[in-house]
Formats: sequence, structure tokens, C-alpha cells
Amino acid sequence: MGYKVAVVGATGNVGREMLNILAERQFPVDEIAVLASRRSLGTECSFGDKTLKTQDLDTFDFTGWDIALFAIGSDATKTYAPKAAKAGCVVIDNSSLYRYDPEVPLVVPEVNPEAVDGYAKKNIIANPNCSTAQMVVALKPLHDRARIKRVVVSTYQSVSGSGKEAMDELWSQTKGMYVPGQEVEPSVYPKQIAFNVIPHIDVFLDDGSTKEEWKMVAETKKIVDSAIKVTATCVRVPVFVGHAEAINIEFEEFLDDDEARDILREAPGILVVDKREDGGYVTPVECVGDYATFISRIRQDSTIDNGLNLWCVSDNLRKGAALNAVQIAETLGKRVLKKG
Ligand SMILES: NC(=O)c1ccc[n+]([C@@H]2O[C@H](COP(=O)([O-])OP(=O)(O)OC[C@H]3O[C@@H](n4cnc5c(N)ncnc54)[C@H](OP(=O)(O)O)[C@@H]3O)[C@@H](O)[C@H]2O)c1
Repeated sequence: MGYKVAVVGATGNVGREMLNILAERQFPVDEIAVLASRRSLGTECSFGDKTLKTQDLDTFDFTGWDIALFAIGSDATKTYAPKAAKAGCVVIDNSSLYRYDPEVPLVVPEVNPEAVDGYAKKNIIANPNCSTAQMVVALKPLHDRARIKRVVVSTYQSVSGSGKEAMDELWSQTKGMYVPGQEVEPSVYPKQIAFNVIPHIDVFLDDGSTKEEWKMVAETKKIVDSAIKVTATCVRVPVFVGHAEAINIEFEEFLDDDEARDILREAPGILVVDKREDGGYVTPVECVGDYATFISRIRQDSTIDNGLNLWCVSDNLRKGAALNAVQIAETLGKRVLKKG
């Protein structure tokens, strides 16, 4: 016996990837429902070799469904996730709505799988922000060995992290640069994204940082260790899929780059590609469609006693969202629900 699974936001970037990954990983599905807004009623979605018709989330009854993978914005999640949870369906949510709720576990299965056990307080488990997910996969094994004190991270985040309309904006704005009269004004983003970079993701906070930067700080503390200090600068770049991060780490104890490389090679979810030669590192276009978080450019930071620098790249729609959500479902299945 497998699970009855609903994919909510199935017509979106993350929802489509969730369907692909459920099929690829042969998640034990007995029945699957694909849900989106009324606008998408009847739209076809692929699940393995099947084609499914999208149903209206607003009228869907979650009674009798085991797991709902949510990938819609926070506002719609606020309306529908409690309904699903109340009907007895465990919600695994990709929005930021529940991530900081002390009664909702925030889970990256390579890092804190045991946190899944706390799902029952609200029947909801939160998936972290895409930039946090890939970073904590890299930080955790290093923290276990040498205790991380402080992290300084700069992100290079692809436009798919802002949804399908943002991908369209990058595409049409880029084309419009070459065709007189077809220039495209910024609409999803506050400034031109084609051939540009924008140091602004999510809203500004009172201290001058952005909400995306704050998320990396708060989520790393909740998932890995509340003692770790993080400072982040989050930047949107004209890449369709794949987030990159330059990470500087200060440890309590000395850890040399060779040992760090060996630790990361053994760690779950990580592939180290780190040759000190032309092309001996991974870039976003190479990680698309992959499950791994790729680590390159591991080197000592000689300006502090116990410091390392590294480069971290992953498919934001996969490890940053859909894959992590499916891994949470797998973990929940193994640890708690025990079907399939
Ligand atoms: N992209 C990433 O890297 C990433 C990473 C982590 C978390 N997330 C989060 O995942 C969520 C989805 O992101 P996305 O990139 O997949 O966005 P997207 O491509 O814009 O897709 C949004 C999806 O939500 C559905 N939707 C929107 N409003 C709805 C409503 N009122 N009722 C029912 N369905 C509704 C849309 O359905 P229609 O097609 O019918 O409009 C569509 O299926 C967001 O909360 C986002 O913050 C994204």
C-alpha cells in the first residue's frame, strides 16, 4: 500500500519538478491529484508516463489524502494549508509561511531528518528557502567536525527562484535587447535583469538587509545550530536555473582544505568537483536537473585563524524546493507513516 499524494501548485515551476521527482524516485504513490488555481482547471500535467488533469484547489477535499506537497505563494498557503492539515493530510510546504513557527519542523533530510517527528503539532512540515537548503547541506558535515562560528555568504540566485513569470521576463527582456521596438520594461523585478545583477531579493527590512538575507540567517539557526552567526548578501543574476553561493566559514577549530574536501566527499547529498585548473569547478548550468549540491573552490582563508572559502551550486528547483520536499515525504514515510 502506497500513499495518496496531492501536488498543490502543480502548474508552477516547483510543482512540475515535484511531479518529475516523485516519478523519478518511484515514490510509492497509490493515487495522485494535481491542483492549482481555477485558472488552470483541466490543464495537463505529466507524471511519469501519465498525463493528469489539474483540479481546482479551492473545491478539493483533502479528507483521506496522506500527503500534500504545497508549492503556491504564502497568501494562498495561508488559506489552504490549514484546511488540508485539518482534514488529516500532512502538508509539506515550500512557502515561507510556516518556516519560523516553533510548532512546525523546518527540515533538510541530510541535516535534521529527526525533526520530521515533530510534524504532528500542526500536521505541517516546512521546506526551507532555496538558498538556505543548499548551504546547510554543505555546512552541516563541516560543523560536526570543527564547529562553525560564523558564515559570510554571497548568493548568485537564478530567476526561476521567483517563479515562472520571472523566467519569462528574463527571456523576453534578453530578446528585446536585440529587436528595436520590442524592449521589455522591468515588471517582476525592480530593475532590468537581462545582462545585469540585482542586489535585492524579497522586501527590505528596517536594518537595511532584505528578507531573503534574513531567511538565510534564521533558517540556518533553526536547521543546523542556533549558535552559528550568518551574514548574507543575496543577489539575483540573469541565469534561468541554478543558484550559486560564495561561502566563507570561520570555525572554532582548525580544519584544513584537504580534510574539508574529504569530509564533503563523504557527506550525503554532496558532490565535490574541485580541480585547481581551467573548468575544474561547477557552474549553475551544469547542475540543472541534478539532485546533488556541488562544492568547488575549497581553499583556506588565510586572513583568519580557522577559515575556509568554498563555492556551492545546486538546482534551486530541485534541492532548493521540489527534491527537498520529496525527500521530506520519504523521511516522513520511513520514520512515521510507514506505508509503501
Ligand atoms: N522557485 C524556487 O526556487 C523556490 C524555492 C523554494 C520555495 N519556493 C516557493 O514555492 C512556491 C511556488 O513557487 P514557484 O516558483 O513554483 O511559483 P510559480 O512557478 O509562479 O507557480 C505558482 C503555482 O501556484 C499556483 N497558485 C498561485 N496562486 C494560487 C491560488 N490562489 N490557488 C491555487 N493555486 C495557486 C499556480 O497555479 P496557476 O498556474 O493556476 O496560477 C502555480 O501552480 C512559492 O511559495 C515559492 O516561494 C520556490
